[in-house]
Amino acid sequence: MHDRLPTEARSERAARRVFAALPHRYDRLAELLSFGQNARWRRTMVDHVVATSPTTVCDVATGTAGVAIELAERSGAHVTGVDVSEEMLSIGARRVTAAGLDHRIDLRQASADRLPFPDDHFDALTFTYLLRYVPDPATTLKELARVVRPGGRIASLDFHVPEHLLWRTAWRSYTRLILPVGGALLGGAAWWRVGAFLGRNIDAHYASFPVAAQLDAWRAADIGDLEVTVESLGGGIVIAGTVGEGGR
Ligand SMILES: C[S@@+](CC[C@H](N)C(=O)[O-])C[C@H]1O[C@@H](n2cnc3c(N)ncnc32)[C@H](O)[C@@H]1O
Repeated sequence: MHDRLPTEARSERAARRVFAALPHRYDRLAELLSFGQNARWRRTMVDHVVATSPTTVCDVATGTAGVAIELAERSGAHVTGVDVSEEMLSIGARRVTAAGLDHRIDLRQASADRLPFPDDHFDALTFTYLLRYVPDPATTLKELARVVRPGGRIASLDFHVPEHLLWRTAWRSYTRLILPVGGALLGGAAWWRVGAFLGRNIDAHYASFPVAAQLDAWRAADIGDLEVTVESLGGGIVIAGTVGEGGR
């Protein structure tokens, strides 16, 4: 079933299916998938939010709760992690307990498209590697912005396709060759399929939803003051902005 990931991955059901098979070695493999850069990119994203000293933060697509834990450790905030995958969340819950953060982090199973929170509920929000899995990224962005109070910060992290020809060629070799093989060696068949699918999925995402169109979608969701940081020669991208003071 994972062989059909490239065309079927943009739905909540498909995302659940993909991530059901992955959580056990997810964190080690996330480093492989990001050329060892994931932790650094994540820090840059979290910097944007902790700089605003939030009291409450929502981390959407929290997966195994790595971002939620970093947010709690680096701020005084109460963090709510949200994900569609029960399997990812159950590893996340163990990691939260192991970090001694049960009193600071709640995990909820829900979709980014229908967040179970009232308007303006959180001071800030993060989301990581999410928009490639949702059917309508612009609508999802509006839903994410809805639950953040005016003036609150939203920050995101995702993979990106390097623009420079040399780095793009190296990136394509890495994603098409090393990722599937490395994934298989570290995580078996499920990770071979993810490794084989990921590069094509990232390419297709930016072909249909280039960064300029993404920034327009952030603005259409009433998120302004946008800051874009392209990481690691173009392999990752952090986008951050502030929810508008009115207009919603
Ligand atoms: C690549 S993982 C990233 C996990 C985590 N943010 C991290 O950086 O370690 C992507 C996560 O997005 C979740 N996801 C996919 N579609 C979703 C949706 N519609 N709503 C909430 N979570 C979703 C998946 O279940 C998965 O846990």
